[in-house]
Amino acid sequence: MSDLEDLRQNRLSIITHSPEQTREIGSIIGGLAHPGELLLLVGDLGTGKTCLVQGIAWGMGLSTYASSPSFVLAREYPGNINLYHIDLYRLSNLEEITDLGIDDYLYGEGVCVVEWAEKAMTLFPQEHLLIELEHMAENERKLRFQAKGQRCTELINQVKKRWNSQ
Ligand SMILES: Nc1ncnc2c1ncn2[C@@H]1O[C@H](COP(=O)(O)OP(=O)(O)OP(=O)(O)O)[C@@H](O)[C@H]1O
Ligand SMILES: [Mg+2]
Repeated sequence: MSDLEDLRQNRLSIITHSPEQTREIGSIIGGLAHPGELLLLVGDLGTGKTCLVQGIAWGMGLSTYASSPSFVLAREYPGNINLYHIDLYRLSNLEEITDLGIDDYLYGEGVCVVEWAEKAMTLFPQEHLLIELEHMAENERKLRFQAKGQRCTELINQVKKRWNSQ
């Protein structure tokens, strides 16, 4: 496979025009994600990370999903596949992550989603789906997906097909 094809295969860039659309792409991802998937969310305040996670939870069939963990760093939602939602916004140093026992989430059987992943990039496994969110206009967000590893590349290709066919 040429580098160019490789590049096309493991990346996806979309613009959403409402929170509902961001939840929609999240829901597609949640419906396709496998146990052990790691999704790293990178983006400023209010770019739609939590909105995306809400969609992921819905796509995984988790109706119990409420909102951002806000005062806790991690929250676990049990389901057919568990969802681990980690929000590192309030993290002040990397040692706190060790106290959190983050490896149980990162290497666990559930789908693990990390908001503010840029705060701890060095700690994450090589294989993950990186999702960068950018504020374009009041209701417009750019979501750039980059798959690291074979499994995430397959996931992103399936998401791409589903998104383009709707
Ligand atoms: N296209 C869009 N996608 C997602 N959110 C949008 C969009 N357009 C507007 N919004 C609004 O932007 C805000 C996104 O909030 P959200 O909590 O998901 O962001 P966040 O990245 O998790 O922020 P934080 O860094 O504070 O956790 C919401 O108020 C939502 O209604
Ligand atoms: Mg958030």
